[in-house]
Amino acid sequence: MAAAADWWRTGVVYQIYPRSFADSNGDGVGDLAGIVAHLDHLGGASESLGVDAIWLSPIYPSPDFDFGYDVADYTGVDPRFGTLADFERLVAACHARGIKVILDLVLNHSSHRHPWFRASRTGRDGPFADWYIWRDSPGQTPTARRRRPNNWRGFFGGPAWTWDETRGQFYLHTFLPQQPDLNWRNPAVRAAIKDVVRTWLARGVDGFRLDVFNTFFKDAALRSNPVRPGAGGGWGSQVHLFDRNRPELVGALAELRAVVDERPGRMTVGELFDGTAAEAASYAAPGHLIFDFALLGLPWSAAAFAEAIRKRDASFGPEVWPTNVLSNHDQPRHAGRYDDPGADASVGDARAKIAAAFLLTQRGTPFLYYGEEIALRALAIPNSEAFDPQARRSSADAPAWNRDQARGPMPWQSGRDGGFTNGQPWLPLPPDLEFRNVARQARDPESVLSLYRQLLRVRRESQALQRGSQEAANVGDADVLAYRRRDADRSVFVALNFASRPAAIRLPEPARGGPWRISLTTHRRKPGDLLAEPVILAPLEALIAYD
Ligand code: NOJ
Repeated sequence: MAAAADWWRTGVVYQIYPRSFADSNGDGVGDLAGIVAHLDHLGGASESLGVDAIWLSPIYPSPDFDFGYDVADYTGVDPRFGTLADFERLVAACHARGIKVILDLVLNHSSHRHPWFRASRTGRDGPFADWYIWRDSPGQTPTARRRRPNNWRGFFGGPAWTWDETRGQFYLHTFLPQQPDLNWRNPAVRAAIKDVVRTWLARGVDGFRLDVFNTFFKDAALRSNPVRPGAGGGWGSQVHLFDRNRPELVGALAELRAVVDERPGRMTVGELFDGTAAEAASYAAPGHLIFDFALLGLPWSAAAFAEAIRKRDASFGPEVWPTNVLSNHDQPRHAGRYDDPGADASVGDARAKIAAAFLLTQRGTPFLYYGEEIALRALAIPNSEAFDPQARRSSADAPAWNRDQARGPMPWQSGRDGGFTNGQPWLPLPPDLEFRNVARQARDPESVLSLYRQLLRVRRESQALQRGSQEAANVGDADVLAYRRRDADRSVFVALNFASRPAAIRLPEPARGGPWRISLTTHRRKPGDLLAEPVILAPLEALIAYD
């Protein structure tokens, strides 16, 4: 079946962290051929999840100071992941199954080993001199140390400026010193970026995730940010007025979008870095989604989820299309976040099912993070053993958690190394591997994986879920999150019991006068059966009905 032109709106996107998905050559690191070998899990087979697109975290050559988010060649493939031919095979195999491919573009900064930066740091003249953000020191401190151009902080701790001896100037880096920020004010930089985008489009890529897009432009005069007194010395110690969201961004984004729009049916999704739902809404456009991460930090509470949606709706309104994300490679996995510390993992799994029903029935494009379909939890890896630069640089001033915990190998099956690799995995497999793996959950109709598959199917078959409007429903119990999705001729009612006790709920009026019928529940009600009051939801039951 041909994908809709607005698949970016109706589809479900699955994020793959390539290092950790599947290793085909035994070096312990996932690769492109590994992904190809596991496409049945994703789409095109009867037992697939049925996702519409995959988003690959960066696959470009990188010295891995920030695991691929420091790019040394924007149009190449890192040899550890494979070759360009492997990439082309991956795209062809995905397209043959109706799966789109989205790449991660890291355009705020490159690696310090990128040839552009190597050339730029050699001196103040030459074609690449102005490709990064260089500034003289404004003088010396009383202790004879070089003053920095302003007070900006790096997100991973420390100042955002590093002195370069060769060039005799400071350069700016919003992240690590090994991630110098590109100078988006330079037309040559913007032209080179457009070439990169065109190159990947010509290779068949269907879309791009834009890493931290709202930091592309900084204040032209590089004014210092206002300081938040008493907030330590890290990123959070400042109001980020001048190092992100600058007005020049709007025009540059439109230029970039125009390049993507040269080919119909392509999309982008921008990662809003440290921003509000209102900012997210302001940058969205048809075919160009924005991640707002309002849902990511919520506690396990129906009221908190309801309030976050209400606030987001107020910013997005009925026209702007949201994205829904509960986990990604930068955040603690949500099944772990929602675990009840006083209960066993089955309660956490039941909560993960409610979360899945939420994610896949909300208005907006859902983004799944590999492993959430089997409710993977965090790996217990202390900061002292971290690969993640954020964790390695954690300090009292800029405390940080270890993102490795959310980036572990995918457990495909039981047994040594979980079918992830024949070698030594770069991060450990989860301790509950024997019970929590794809093969085992695929055989169990009650598993989290089986529920994801059913939810994706129900979503695929419902225009109301894919495109409809959404309104909150008051069902008379504050622990039940309930809402209704509607399109021209159908409506869908969703009730999610966040509590570990039964909940009696009122049903909303069916839109077409007919009764509500069960579409899917986590608790053995029969699809197609009538739903009549009184409806008592079981503890942690998710119920989806249609009229
Ligand atoms: C956001 C990415 O998601 C994160 O993993 C990375 O460290 C920073 N951007 C810097 O590129």
